[in-house]
Amino acid sequence: MNVIYTDRLSKHFGSLKAVDQVSISVRQGEIMGLLGANGAGKTTLIKMLCGMLPPTEGTGAVAGYDIVGQATSIRHRIGYMNQSVSLLENLRVSENIEFYGKIYGMNKREIAARWEELEDLFKMGAHRHKLASELSSGWRQMLAFVIAVFHNPKTLFLDEPTSGLDPLSRFEMWEQIYRTAYQGTTIIMSTHYLSEAWYCDRLIMMENGRVTAEGSPEHLNEISGKQGLGQLFLMQQK
Ligand SMILES: Nc1ncnc2c1ncn2[C@@H]1O[C@H](COP(=O)(O)OP(=O)(O)O)[C@@H](O)[C@H]1O
Ligand SMILES: [Mg+2]
Repeated sequence: MNVIYTDRLSKHFGSLKAVDQVSISVRQGEIMGLLGANGAGKTTLIKMLCGMLPPTEGTGAVAGYDIVGQATSIRHRIGYMNQSVSLLENLRVSENIEFYGKIYGMNKREIAARWEELEDLFKMGAHRHKLASELSSGWRQMLAFVIAVFHNPKTLFLDEPTSGLDPLSRFEMWEQIYRTAYQGTTIIMSTHYLSEAWYCDRLIMMENGRVTAEGSPEHLNEISGKQGLGQLFLMQQK
């Protein structure tokens, strides 16, 4: 079942076509990787799918809701992790959680119960009293991930969740991404790292706002010649 689809979705900023006629579909429970160099249009596409940015042209739906007419319904049902992780810097980890829990419309009891569940899973207990500004980049991004999944969304958008992390933190982030997908959550994530392309079920490669290739990592590896996926990836970075 396709839970996300777009039909010739476009976003223009003046004469710039940041996203240009993108038609994609994503099945439930899939980890879909968005690959492309800086400026390819990944963030713009994700923001339109999240109902945060109205498209210039084209249509799309997430979990049965239209991304234009029903953007509010989408925003309530999805999880979103921003590329530039936004935390309340002067508040403690536990206070960040409470703040976002309330935004999701959860009451104190629900927030406490969900935190208890996630605290161990994410090994965040030891950090709960720290200020967000005191966290290392690995823990900052992990906290942003916890916030994105706090209300148990069935669709999750992660914009470069592993960017700038050391290998161990990246591994830990991927453990959580896999665990979340295993529970049936559909995930769209963007990444810069070729190695991470292999962890995705399917890939969408973007260049100058357009989709240039789509398929499983194995398929793309096969069709892209001798150097495989690496070749395709390098072409994207030019
Ligand atoms: N609000 C905006 N106004 C004008 N141009 C923008 C805006 N947001 C993004 N862009 C431009 O759109 C293109 C795609 O950006 P973006 O979606 O952030 O790409 P990516 O996430 O792949 O790096 C870039 O050329 C960027 O400069
Ligand atoms: Mg981006």
